[in-house]
Amino acid sequence: MMGEIHVMDHPLIEHKISYIRREDVGTKEFREVIGEIAQLMCYEATRDLQMKEVEIQTPIARTMGRELDGKKLAIVPILRAGIGMVDGMLSLIPTAKVGHIGLYRDPDTLEPVEYYCKLPADCGERRVFVVDPMLATGGSSTAAIRMLKEKGVKNIKFLCIIAAPEGVKRMREEHPDVDIYIGALDEKLNDHGYIVPGLGDAGDRIFGTK
Ligand code: PRP
Ligand code: URA
Repeated sequence: MMGEIHVMDHPLIEHKISYIRREDVGTKEFREVIGEIAQLMCYEATRDLQMKEVEIQTPIARTMGRELDGKKLAIVPILRAGIGMVDGMLSLIPTAKVGHIGLYRDPDTLEPVEYYCKLPADCGERRVFVVDPMLATGGSSTAAIRMLKEKGVKNIKFLCIIAAPEGVKRMREEHPDVDIYIGALDEKLNDHGYIVPGLGDAGDRIFGTK
C-alpha cells in the first residue's frame, strides 16, 4: 500500500519549531523542545493504531470501551540526533521497545556510513517508528529503512521535525510504502547538504558538541 505524507499543521508544533530554529537557543532548551515536538508528532503518528472493544466496569456501570490492539510498537532513532526524539515518543507509548541505528553522513560525499545497528529481536513483528529530526538528502533515512526491511520489518513510519523537498522525494522513490510525518517542510538544501532555512546541525545542537 502507498504510504502517506503528513505535514504537521498545528500551532504548537509550528511555534516550537520556529523557536528552535533560532541560532541563539542553547543546548538545554533545544533538547527540551525537540522532545516536546516529538511528543506532539507521536500523537499524530499513532492516530491509526488498531483498537479492540473491551468490556469494563466503572465505579458506576458496566460499559464497552476501546483499547489498543494489534502489533506491538518499536521506536528506532537514527543516531545521534534521533535520540533527542525518543523520550518524547516514549512519554506517550511507554511500552514500546527501542532499537538504534547508527549512521553518519560523510561530509564530502553526503552518503551515510553505518556504524551501529541493534534492534529488538522481534522487530519484524512490530510497527516501527523511525525517528530523526532532519530529512536532508534522504541518504540516512532511506538507508536506515533499508536496514529495517532487510530484518523483516514491514510496517514502518518515519518521523522528522524538518524536511527538505529533496529528501522527501528520495524517500518516496525508495520507500513508497512508508508513511512520513514532517514537522515543517523547508525550501531546499544548500551546497553543503544543509536544510535551508533549517536549524543547523541537529546532533550538535542536541548534544552541545559545537
Ligand atoms: C544528520 C541528521 C540525519 C542526517 C540527515 O545526522 O540527524 O541523520 O544528518 O541528512 P541526510 O538526509 O542528508 O542523510 P549526521 O550525519 O549529522 O549525524 P549526527 O546525528 O551524528 O550528528
Ligand atoms: N543534518 C542536520 O543536522 N542538519 C541539516 O540541515 C542537514 C542534515
